[in-house]
Parts: sequence; C-alpha cells; structure tokens
Amino acid sequence: MIEVINFTKRYGEFTAVDDLSFSIGEGEIFGFIGPNGAGKSTTIRFLATLLRPTSGEGRIAGHSVTEDPMAVRRVIGFMPDDFGVYDGMKVWEFLDFFAVAYEIPKAMRRRIIGEVLELLDLTHKRDDYVNGLSKGMKQRLCLAKTLVHDPPVLILDEPASGLDPRARLEMKALLNELRRMGKTILVSSHILSELADFCTSIGVIERGRLLAAGSIRDIQRKIRAHRVLKVELTSGETDRAATILRDDPAIDSVEAYGRSVTAEFHGDDEDMGRLLGRLMAAGVPVQSFAEEPLSLEEVFMMITKGIVN
Ligand SMILES: Nc1ncnc2c1ncn2[C@@H]1O[C@H](COP(=O)(O)OP(=O)(O)O)[C@@H](O)[C@H]1O
Ligand SMILES: [Mg+2]
Repeated sequence: MIEVINFTKRYGEFTAVDDLSFSIGEGEIFGFIGPNGAGKSTTIRFLATLLRPTSGEGRIAGHSVTEDPMAVRRVIGFMPDDFGVYDGMKVWEFLDFFAVAYEIPKAMRRRIIGEVLELLDLTHKRDDYVNGLSKGMKQRLCLAKTLVHDPPVLILDEPASGLDPRARLEMKALLNELRRMGKTILVSSHILSELADFCTSIGVIERGRLLAAGSIRDIQRKIRAHRVLKVELTSGETDRAATILRDDPAIDSVEAYGRSVTAEFHGDDEDMGRLLGRLMAAGVPVQSFAEEPLSLEEVFMMITKGIVN
C-alpha cells in the first residue's frame, strides 16, 4: 500500500535520508521509529508529496508520489508534526475548510463533520475556537481533519508528541479504532514504547539510514537465532519437565526456576507441538506453554547496537 524506493534527500552537503527503502502492506500499522533528527519527518513529508526527493521514488496505493501527487493526496490523510495557528476559526469551520479543500459537496459536509467529531470525541467542542483547545484536543482535531475525505491511508508524524499520559492513551485508542476501520497507518515516534502495543510492523531509522524494517515477528526471529520457550507448571515438578526437554533434539539449553522452565529452541511450530505432547504424555502439570516474545525494547536495543543487519 505504501512503498518507499531508494529515497534519498540531501540538503546541500548534508544527507538527511540515505537510500531508504521499505514497504507497508494494506491494513498494517507501521511504526516509524528513530531518535530526533533521524529523518522521519523528511521521509513522511516526501510521502505526503510536500518535499521533492534528491533521488528515489514513493508509491501509495499504486500512485507515484513524484509523478501523480494529486492522486496521492486524495488517498492519504496527513497529520504534520506541527499544528498551524488558525486565529478566529471555530472547530467546525476548521474541518469545513478542509472538507471544501477536498471538494466534498456541501450537502455532505455537515454530516461528515458530525461523524468525524463524534469519532474523535470532540462533538461538545464543535462551536469552540480552535485556539482555545487544549494540546490534546488540538492533536485530535488535527487527526480529525485528516479523516474528512475518508482516506484509506493515514500518515501521522508524531501524533502523540507533547501530550500528557492520558491524552497519549486516548490517541493510542483512536489509532487502534482507525486500524479496526481498515486504514493503513504509518505513524512515527521517537518514543518506542508509544508504538509497541499496536504496531504490526516497524522501521527503525537512525541518521538517515534504515536499520531494520519488517513485521515485528520477523524482526524478532532475525534477532534471535534461537527461539525461547517458556513452560509454566501448576506445581514445582520442574525437574521432570527439564529432563524431557533436555532430551529433545530441538532443544539447545534448559533452565528451571521456581515453577517455570525456560528452554532455547531451534525447531519450528510442529516441533513445539510435539514437545508439548511429550510433556503432557509424561503427566507434567503444564499450566502454560508458549514462545517467549522479545519485547520491542529488546528488539530496538539490538537493532541500534548493530546486532541485526
Ligand atoms: N530544510 C532543511 N534544511 C537542512 N537540513 C534539514 C532540513 N530539514 C531537516 N533537516 C535535517 O535533516 C535531518 C532529519 O530531520 P527530520 O526528518 O526532521 O528528522 P526527525 O523527524 O526524525 O526528527 C536533521 O538533521 C535535520 O536537521
Ligand atoms: Mg520529525
């Protein structure tokens, strides 16, 4: 749905983004993660057709970002990292302004604005002035204006930045809601944990270069040559479980602690099923049996330390 192909942007001698390529499938939430100055906004502004590349190409829903920017604008909702000042404009006027810009017929505008305000929980602010809104509400309003033309793709540049914890949670809930509505979302952040719960894929960028990109699961796999299995028992019979596991050719090492056994494992999903079967057949009181995922934080640390790629 979104493709970045060898995108490079230079400002004079300085290379802000260096030969970036990644793609995002339909219905995904792609977390674009990197520290300040990494090149996130540069890439996002390029995709939003607001910045010409030094070289490279981008495609959104099949349209070329450089050759057909108008078609791209129709299919994307773009939320910039800064919020303009709109003196003397009321909330509904602000949304109406964008609805007009997107050529939505007058007869439909009122209904659409009502729906968008409802979705973003701003109905009670309809007739308030934009400038009087709290930061969190301004962010929500900014998200609202990216939705008036019902685009399938949302490109959001640090939508939760500068928000207090409660407003951050609200923003998260909203993005989840938009995902449920089937939108494909690219969302950037310099704070990893902000995106950890709900992204289906991520791209990590640092100093203009992409360090890793892909589904969270694939990246986790790549980082860990060995998967880790965690078995919890209802009683402390870890010795028996550990012996059975140690015996298996797919297991590399086993550690027992309290009522749980952790094992490094190099098999596939079928091997996992077989292992569980062996434990059950031996009457080991298994309470849970699962692969232990790496946290996104661990993934990120490993990527930025150069352990992957
Ligand atoms: N118009 C510009 N002229 C010169 N350098 C720029 C310009 N815009 C951005 N940069 C530089 O490019 C780098 C990437 O910036 P940006 O894409 O805004 O990073 P991020 O959004 O990840 O914080 C930064 O070092 C920034 O200073
Ligand atoms: Mg930025």
